[in-house]
Amino acid sequence: MASHRLLDEIDLSAAPRGSAIVEVGSVRESGDDMPSSLYLWKKAEAFGLEFFTVDFSPASWRLAQQYVGSRAVLEEGTAFLSRFDRKIAVLYLDNFDYPSDARHAQELEARCGQVYRDQGQTMTRAESVRVHGQQFQAAVDKMSRQSWLIIDNTYRQPLGLHRIRQPFWGKGQRVVPLALRHGFRIAKEGCSGMMLSRSSQPVLAPERWLQLYCGGGRTAGLYQALGFQPPMMVGGSGSMSSPTVVA
Ligand SMILES: C[S@@+](CC[C@H](N)C(=O)[O-])C[C@H]1O[C@@H](n2cnc3c(N)ncnc32)[C@H](O)[C@@H]1O
Repeated sequence: MASHRLLDEIDLSAAPRGSAIVEVGSVRESGDDMPSSLYLWKKAEAFGLEFFTVDFSPASWRLAQQYVGSRAVLEEGTAFLSRFDRKIAVLYLDNFDYPSDARHAQELEARCGQVYRDQGQTMTRAESVRVHGQQFQAAVDKMSRQSWLIIDNTYRQPLGLHRIRQPFWGKGQRVVPLALRHGFRIAKEGCSGMMLSRSSQPVLAPERWLQLYCGGGRTAGLYQALGFQPPMMVGGSGSMSSPTVVA
């Protein structure tokens, strides 16, 4: 399941009037009937929100314009978020590619290596993690109290020492722990991405600890034992090879 579909059935009516859905990383390939950029625009329209999709690649921007017109912006993501002057209700981060293994790196290089070189960038995992983290930091003070954050290609590490050292891997490796510190909770996980949400209900330290180290799979019982709601598990691992143990 594509990560933007984590918003299916989410009621955005609590989002402040005039706030926006912002996607960083626009539709890159045509073919899908309902690509993320179009889906998010429709979702924004349904709830009376603004919509913007941002991409630094002229080719992706031109394609996105075909779906959402002037709501597509040609700009680097952090630069756009830094100058953005509205409230953000939903932030969808799906941009700087994260090569999951050597084969994926080769495939990405063939598909879009030149796009990154044109921007003076080198496509590495570390850079992907850094860039998504920087974008979240540029956006977080603009996100409304009631808001949603979706980050693509993000997984929990398999249970064990790895998870203690580094709970998540993928594009959101840095974003998710940062978002937990900013009062977000992981609402849905288990497909190719994660959806977090924030409300006026504060996240207490034990719940934050659970969110960091325990998922909605085999470790969900720990949440229940402590009186918290575990993240909802959503099926479908997406296109990246993900850890075998979902917990
Ligand atoms: C995986 S695609 C986005 C796919 C789209 N969200 C969808 O689901 O169809 C990633 C896009 O992010 C763009 N991108 C990568 N790094 C970026 C950055 N720092 N700022 C803006 N766009 C970026 C790429 O040009 C590419 O078009």
